[in-house]
Amino acid sequence: MKKMLVLASLLFGGLTYAQTNPYPIIPYPASLQPGTGVFEVTSATSLIVPADAPLSSQVKQLKSMLGIRGNAAGSGNRIVIGFDSSLGNDEAYSLEVSASTITLLGKTPAGINRGIQTLHQLVPASGTKKIPSVTIKDQPAYAWRGMHLDVSRHFFTVDFIKKYIDQLAFYKFNKFHWHLTDDQGWRIEIKKYPLLTQEGAWRTLNNQDSSCIAKSKDNPDFIIDPRFLKMKDGKQVYGGYYTQEQIKEIVAYAAERSIEVIPEIDMPGHMMAAIKQYPYLSCTTDASWGKTFSTPICPCNEQTYEFAENVFNEVFELFPSQYVHLGADEVEKTTWANAEVCKELMKKEGIKNVEELQSYFIHRMQKFFTSKGKKLIGWDEMLEGGIDASATLMYWRSWVKNAPYEAAKNGNEIIMTPVSTLYFDSPPGIQSVSNVYQLEVVPEGIPAHQKKLFLGAQANLWTEYVPTESRAEYLYMPRMTALSEVVWTNKKNFDSFQQRLLQHYPMMEKRNIHYRLPDLTGFTEANVFVDKATLSIKKPLESYVIRYTTDGSLPVKTSPELGKGLIITKPQTIKLAAFTSTGLRGDIYTLHYQQQAYAKPVSVSNPRAGLKGSLYKKFFKMTTLMKKETADSTFTVRNVEVPKTVTAPSFGIQFRGLINVPETGVYSFFYTCDDGGILRIADRMVVDNDGNHFPIEKSGQVALSKGAHPFEADFIEGGGGFTLKLKYSLNGSEPKDVPDSWFVQQ
Ligand code: ACM
Repeated sequence: MKKMLVLASLLFGGLTYAQTNPYPIIPYPASLQPGTGVFEVTSATSLIVPADAPLSSQVKQLKSMLGIRGNAAGSGNRIVIGFDSSLGNDEAYSLEVSASTITLLGKTPAGINRGIQTLHQLVPASGTKKIPSVTIKDQPAYAWRGMHLDVSRHFFTVDFIKKYIDQLAFYKFNKFHWHLTDDQGWRIEIKKYPLLTQEGAWRTLNNQDSSCIAKSKDNPDFIIDPRFLKMKDGKQVYGGYYTQEQIKEIVAYAAERSIEVIPEIDMPGHMMAAIKQYPYLSCTTDASWGKTFSTPICPCNEQTYEFAENVFNEVFELFPSQYVHLGADEVEKTTWANAEVCKELMKKEGIKNVEELQSYFIHRMQKFFTSKGKKLIGWDEMLEGGIDASATLMYWRSWVKNAPYEAAKNGNEIIMTPVSTLYFDSPPGIQSVSNVYQLEVVPEGIPAHQKKLFLGAQANLWTEYVPTESRAEYLYMPRMTALSEVVWTNKKNFDSFQQRLLQHYPMMEKRNIHYRLPDLTGFTEANVFVDKATLSIKKPLESYVIRYTTDGSLPVKTSPELGKGLIITKPQTIKLAAFTSTGLRGDIYTLHYQQQAYAKPVSVSNPRAGLKGSLYKKFFKMTTLMKKETADSTFTVRNVEVPKTVTAPSFGIQFRGLINVPETGVYSFFYTCDDGGILRIADRMVVDNDGNHFPIEKSGQVALSKGAHPFEADFIEGGGGFTLKLKYSLNGSEPKDVPDSWFVQQ
């Protein structure tokens, strides 16, 4: 938060957006030398391409991006594109911009595509097309830079898929992982099995839709897209699918942008949509929900393999990618364990358990994939019954910490998609962009000789609760920009990234992306005033407008503007949000105001430095539960901090003493806890951040007279690493650490 504030004031304290960074490129190039002067694109700018070069799609993209006709013999400045075989990587490119010439060279068309996007990002989002002079040499750090989209749980149009691919291209991703089938709908036409889409692409509304519909009352992004609803046999159904012609169109569209489309046909689990149409696929001829997951297809019947191979034969024809995803996640294996046909097969093949039965299925499919020249990818559950070293593992279960290490030891290639950071369906918060940015593609401790097995990383967007394009865009943007920088550069400079990201929001608006606006910071949600308070919010971008309500309703485009500040003179609740000029609304913040008198100080005789800490070595769900226990030990600490001697994985600490504030005022406190905590000062609740959760900062205020006041901070840690931070602010200052000298004990 601190960095954001400094940056915002740096950027908008008189500077204009265009002056902030002339090269706001994301991902940042491997090497960039600023130049002087600008190249101005005009109608006379010419475009020079080597004769017979296979660059027609690049030419088309450049012309449309720059709005030029691109005649070879124009009278003005010129853009030259071509090949340079000395570049070190298929996606490498060099870009030289001077006032008279832009030269873009790639080793292959893919490199030229990457360079086109760099150029794209250098064209200002509005105004004249002046491209600053620069020399760039660039190439990616990782070969797998992916984004995934689930189109089964909710469906998306061909146009939206193309728009998604455009965003991947803009940020130099090279893999689009398309999750085409699942329990909730089969979305790819398979000519041999027409029922898969005629019937299997349609379902009645489910629990996930109900949850979306409930949320849609406050947020239109959750309205079920009516384009995918229809009446079928007297019932309302939801669905849709892609014809093979549409799939080819999308694969070609992606290929023009040097993006490979990786299809996923998820099996043997997640196959209910198919089993309902072809019941022989399951061991029980039934498709239903088991204890955790749905009934899988039966790996013990030859008919299953015939079906799977026929489906993949058509898939292989449609997708030229070498990698194809078989799924293999979340398989409920009880129907296998109980089936006679499986018992017989296990006996015959010497298969000891159902995990090995899953491996048997994967091995057979892998053999088939290999015979067709394809490489199999599967989710990390594949490891459980043992896998062949030539399978590629997609790691998602962050809680199975040893999976990437085991896979690397086994010689498998690995793509990192950990649920903890790269599941973009998880609702974003203030930390989510920086969490993605901090990702280490190669986990700590991987031996040097195994590092090359980590192909790269990918973010996944599952759509159980994503019924609209707007919701999808809100979830993946801007998080994908952080991932793009991680996988392209493998270098980290978050301050620089954040600055460039601010400059990308107007570009996103121009591209009509329903992005998540940057968080508003620098205020508390629980506020206190004595006579009056002034609410003013620093805007992350000058073009935003902050709007508010005082009647409990959600702010809308017509709500009053907060402007320079709002004077608060009575207890009330204010809801506010930032709005873009294009009508996007940022997250809504609810600010409570209560009136307090300044708490009177208590008298202190013979104070000693520090706070008393009481340690409880136990798991607590809430801080209040510590009250029922007897402390295991007590100690003195200088501040609100966990002593190094505390090694219990789960514990609670009560900090008690006095806080001696140097002047009378309304103090803001920012209490970050993982897991939970509460803060009381002068017998008033200031911050309630209780419960078991990830690091969350919560804030509150208290009116204090100069002097000492009773201080109580409680903290609990459930296990797995803690975060504990207490900061304060007075009169709108930057949040800072509470000085040790303020804490005393009687
Ligand atoms: C997954 O999230 N089931 C791969």
